[in-house]
Amino acid sequence: MAVLEIAVEIGTSYTSIFVSGNGIVLREPTVIAFLGEPKQKKIRAVGQAAYEMLGKTPEKTTVVCPVVDGFIADPEACSLLLREFIKRILPQSYIFFPKIKAVLGIPTGLTIEERRTYEDVLLSAYIKEITMVENIILSAIGIDLPVSTTCGGLVVNIGGGITEVAAMSLSGVVSGCGVTIGGNLMDKALIDFAAGKHNLKMGLNTARKVKTEIGTLYENDTAEMTVSGIDLQTKNIGTAKLKSSDVCSVLRPYYVRIRDAIESIIKMLPPEIASDVYKTGIYIVGGGANITGLEKFLSSELSLNAYVPEDPEYAAILGAGKLLSNRYLLDEILSQK
Ligand SMILES: Nc1ncnc2c1ncn2[C@@H]1O[C@H](COP(=O)(O)OP(=O)(O)OP(=O)(O)O)[C@@H](O)[C@H]1O
Ligand SMILES: [Mg+2]
Repeated sequence: MAVLEIAVEIGTSYTSIFVSGNGIVLREPTVIAFLGEPKQKKIRAVGQAAYEMLGKTPEKTTVVCPVVDGFIADPEACSLLLREFIKRILPQSYIFFPKIKAVLGIPTGLTIEERRTYEDVLLSAYIKEITMVENIILSAIGIDLPVSTTCGGLVVNIGGGITEVAAMSLSGVVSGCGVTIGGNLMDKALIDFAAGKHNLKMGLNTARKVKTEIGTLYENDTAEMTVSGIDLQTKNIGTAKLKSSDVCSVLRPYYVRIRDAIESIIKMLPPEIASDVYKTGIYIVGGGANITGLEKFLSSELSLNAYVPEDPEYAAILGAGKLLSNRYLLDEILSQK
């Protein structure tokens, strides 16, 4: 029987799949749309197509985001979604269904029961063999940090639902935490801001565009963006000009809380590792690391060097992909549990 080795990350915002020998073959929103009630299991769209229906659905369509705050909250919807993605990535050349083995990225600190939820979701999506590794360790591997040395590095992953922080040494986590702060909360805060200051009801997709186009941590940025939505007074279509300095004041408090989480982890480190972290600096990944000014903000707030690698949102899936061809490192990581 043919064997297909893959890596999977099921994030709050995006699901990614890496196929051994091919690299990342899929990165799609973790969103599924059903015709009627989800329990009838009539899938209308998955991934990007379902994401585009958010906030625009006709009465008979229900859009579900099965991962909340980094964890699978709706296993049934999640397994239906993953099945569709797996079908999509299967090479056409297979005549018979291959035996699929996967390295799966998971949030830190799952209970046995919660790990079983992940296992059940993957098993129901045609995956026969599953090896789970924490996303934060995968992120460090993805950006080539020397995780198996005594000075493995400190990594922060800012996702859509959760921010994880961990310091690594000898292929394990020395000290780490997860806080439920991520892009989704920031999107909601921008929507509330537009309603409060401009009397404009802005859609979720618009809020995300604002964040990616004029989002910044520099208080004196001068960019502007005109957005449309519903005028809350007239109930007609309205527009507002948002300033990046205002967007900064909405987003900054979330990054301040992330800074606090990093600070608390640094304080808990054994002195030798803390001094290594001060020497090597810290690495920020995940989609939320793309915000303008993050390196400067964290470097000056924490008095150490903070680095954002290129394409930070791919760090965890790339790390999982690297483990597919590095059995030695994978065994070393698994032996730390
Ligand atoms: N330029 C940007 N500025 C701020 N946030 C951004 C930017 N680009 C993307 N994001 C946000 O990054 C988040 C997605 O990041 P990522 O793909 O790492 O999340 P995820 O892995 O799906 O979620 P999680 O790890 O929380 O389960 C979204 O909230 C998205 O809006
Ligand atoms: Mg993630």
